[in-house]
Amino acid sequence: MSIPKGNIPKQNQLFYGADYNPDQWQHTPEILERDIELMKQAGVTSASVGIFAWTVLEPQEGRYEFAWLDCVMDRFAQEGMFVFLATPSGSKPMWLSEKYPEVRRVNKDGRRDASGGRHNHCMSSPVYRAKTAQMNRALAERYKNHPALALWHVGNEFSGECHCDVCRINFQKWLKVKYQTLEALNEAWWSNFWNHTFTDWSQIPTFDQSIDGLTVDWLRFTNDQHISFLRNEMAPLRELTPNVPCTTNFMGTHEGTNYWEWSEHLDIISNDLYPMPDDREETWKQSIASDFIHSLMRGMSGGKPWMLLECSPSSVNWGQINKLKRPGVHRQEVLQALANGADTIHYFQWRKGRGGYEKYHGAVVDHEGSDQGRVYKECAALGREIESLGSLCQHELPQADIAIVYDWESRWALNASCGPKAAKVIHPYPSDITTEACQGHYRALTVAGQSVDVLSAQSEFTDYKVLVIPALYMVSDVLSARLQTFVDQGGILVGSYLTGYVDETNRCHLGGFPGAGLRETFGIWNEEVDYLHDETEVSIVAELDETYRYVAKDIVEVLHAESAEILARTASEFYNGSPIITRKQAGAGAAYYVGAKIGDDGLSQFYQQVLSVHAIHPKMRMTLPKGVVIRQRESAQGTLAFLFNYKREVQSIDLHNQTLRDLATGDLLRGHVELKPYASHVCVVDI
Ligand code: GAL
Repeated sequence: MSIPKGNIPKQNQLFYGADYNPDQWQHTPEILERDIELMKQAGVTSASVGIFAWTVLEPQEGRYEFAWLDCVMDRFAQEGMFVFLATPSGSKPMWLSEKYPEVRRVNKDGRRDASGGRHNHCMSSPVYRAKTAQMNRALAERYKNHPALALWHVGNEFSGECHCDVCRINFQKWLKVKYQTLEALNEAWWSNFWNHTFTDWSQIPTFDQSIDGLTVDWLRFTNDQHISFLRNEMAPLRELTPNVPCTTNFMGTHEGTNYWEWSEHLDIISNDLYPMPDDREETWKQSIASDFIHSLMRGMSGGKPWMLLECSPSSVNWGQINKLKRPGVHRQEVLQALANGADTIHYFQWRKGRGGYEKYHGAVVDHEGSDQGRVYKECAALGREIESLGSLCQHELPQADIAIVYDWESRWALNASCGPKAAKVIHPYPSDITTEACQGHYRALTVAGQSVDVLSAQSEFTDYKVLVIPALYMVSDVLSARLQTFVDQGGILVGSYLTGYVDETNRCHLGGFPGAGLRETFGIWNEEVDYLHDETEVSIVAELDETYRYVAKDIVEVLHAESAEILARTASEFYNGSPIITRKQAGAGAAYYVGAKIGDDGLSQFYQQVLSVHAIHPKMRMTLPKGVVIRQRESAQGTLAFLFNYKREVQSIDLHNQTLRDLATGDLLRGHVELKPYASHVCVVDI
């Protein structure tokens, strides 16, 4: 790879723009010209173009039409703006889909998709791979020296699975490479259960819920297929435009995609995020969930800047309720991404289309078409603000003291295992136990004033002071040994309920949970786990601190302290008195275990005590109320502090001796400061 991760060679400013679909407006050149004017007026630097434009680029097989795109590229270059040129694989032309039906996906029941829709190609299809590679080669040939070309936007939000015969045979081959013999596969999958012993590779299906090892391997295989499809798309781009970086837009914690693995193949990490805070609820928690996702992106880019490649400037159109963002929320979401290391803010979408599924989706420019709309004006004001924050560009975020491990394979294993209580939907996207647990610990640490990095289970974590592994259900012997070494070398490890139940094939560890040696690391035996009804609460009381009285919900483990000290116990239910928070000291290091899902206040207090015992202090020592968050980011101007009130109520904070100067207003903030609902301040520190 010739481009250092996280950099666009042409970038000397923060990029601000949107998904732009001039292909839908080819016959109205006056609108296209108007778009350029409106973009300039709004401080737009760049646009993602051509994401779903295959038919317009290749109206008939082998006949390419680039005139319209030449025009767009040239106009952008004339105005000093950049294009993130998309490869159009996200949806297929009708002629292609009808002539080569095998490019369409097959569902679990064996039914092939009809033509149409999007994001539904078969990743194995040799025809689709050949056609996308040809298209990408043609694009790269044509625009390789074009001054507007800054980035390749490869495909769009890859996801999903295909169960066609080609995929099934590829899966069987993939398994053969992995296990070598059927004996090894049957052993790994515990196939004697319900007569699933395979006697020929061809018997292996792509789906059988009763073999949960198969489910995890299928997800690994599908993930690999997507990556191999992506690499096939990138091959001509890398060959013809070695200095133009490639990205593909991620979807945060999307369930079927192990983005840690994808990120190794990309030059720049980019993400799409559509928070939909429900202002009847505790919106601050949802905002911290966005911070968690931003930290995950930062983790994937190795601390380097990343891109927010899609977000809505107003409402979306696909939710159950598509509420407009309340005043301050849009600006806050944008600044939040910058505070967490983004170098690019792009919207979906620049202009509302006249027809189709997304005609009512939020956009910078409304059907009305002028610069008079509220959303346009808000975006234009933000454009100016972002321009003024250009000194943030390409500056990395400092490493935090604390890291949380977020592991897709472990999540897959837990979700595939029948038994644990189903997770609730806490966000517009269905959540799951792993994500909920990681976000819960991230939130508690944020409330304790800490910055947190997010890592994979394979990441190097020895440099961190604290490592948190919430619900890390799948733990191999190798990982367990690394965790033990971390503690031996003075690290503080925090484990939670549902840690260390299965090995990498989703078979339960024998010899007591947490397995693979973690029983020794944590000094506990987790004998049983109680999954509770929603309304059931189990009391928790600290051993030496009468004031520490909280409740646990959903999941409570029945622990035995073996070589660990007991910090808190359950105080209700038949297992009343059993240990629930423990600590095993090992030299300078320690391993804490929190065996229940304790509410936010209990978890925050736990962290405050642990961090204070181990003298791990936040970088900016201020007592902030819940929902007020301060983040720092380096810039060419020095350190900038981003101060946010994530709540819809006014909140007061005490800045003590610290003085901040708000860059947007010039106001000085010191002493007691009132933060308006959803307020955001970008400040110079200590002037
Ligand atoms: C994204 C997708 C965009 C657009 C957007 C609407 O998932 O990449 O093309 O559909 O959703 O919110």
